[in-house]
Amino acid sequence: MGNGIAQVAARSGFDVVMRDVAQEFLDRGMTSIDKSLQRDVDKERLTKDVKRSIIERIHTTTDLSALSEAFIVVEAVTENFEVKSEVFKTLDRLTKPGIILASNTSSISITKLGAATQRPEKVIGMHFMNPVPVMKLVEIIRGAATSDETFEKTRGLTEKLGKLPLECHDSPGFVSNRVLMPMINEAIFALYEGVATRESIDGIMKQGMNHPMGPLALADFIGLDVCLAIMNVLHDGFSDSKYRPCPLLKRYVDAGWLGKKTGRGFYEY
Ligand code: CAA
Repeated sequence: MGNGIAQVAARSGFDVVMRDVAQEFLDRGMTSIDKSLQRDVDKERLTKDVKRSIIERIHTTTDLSALSEAFIVVEAVTENFEVKSEVFKTLDRLTKPGIILASNTSSISITKLGAATQRPEKVIGMHFMNPVPVMKLVEIIRGAATSDETFEKTRGLTEKLGKLPLECHDSPGFVSNRVLMPMINEAIFALYEGVATRESIDGIMKQGMNHPMGPLALADFIGLDVCLAIMNVLHDGFSDSKYRPCPLLKRYVDAGWLGKKTGRGFYEY
């Protein structure tokens, strides 16, 4: 999702530093950005020159210290608390003291990420939806210590990115994944129990509820490892068995069938 966020920011006129741990991931990210912008060039919504200038505004690096001049950092690393909190500790050390540190986490506590820093009042959730260039919503999550000033600045920035900011408080899964993930998990249970085929389950939800994608296709699109991580956050966070991840979801993740990104999930790609 990081490359989608970089693309949207650069398209809105911001200079962006996109940082990852290895050059190959940055190259992959730039390829996605190129492809995504090319769709709009092909549809004559963007000229080739504007596309080039958007791409030129994105500077890639593996060096974290390149973020020292940033006026905001949006973290989009893997959905794991230990990894994210280490990143927040490092960002807190490397970046200017007054700037906002935002997380694109889909379910991890903003309050806990804030507590990993010396500036919890400047830590906030900026949860983009996939595909980032297409989806309007950014769920803005206030941690226990997030200040009103940080919230207002983040809301303003989200609007400058052409997105719709909607506010919620810090709670496992926030609103988006508290509602979405149990639906996806239930669809996986329906498949697991043989209630219907994958095509029927997805067809029923697509045609019957007017969802753009069926829940199993959507799970593949999000990544089954991400879905499992979110179900575990809900399960642990509420200590309620209604959030237990379906054994079939666990089995697919164990097998490395993570969805679209690995070529196999509930469907083959
Ligand atoms: N970059 C730029 N544009 C893209 C794009 C991308 N990566 N992917 C799709 N598009 C554009 C297409 O160009 C097309 O544009 P126009 O209609 O303006 O011409 C439009 O999106 C629709 O695309 P397609 O016609 O190719 O395909 P589609 O109609 O099947 O739509 C979809 C694709 C937008 C992904 C749609 O299926 C959809 O909305 N799916 C649901 C997505 C969703 O629920 N996302 C949230 C997931 S949850 C999450 O992200 C958060 C979390 O924490 C897990």
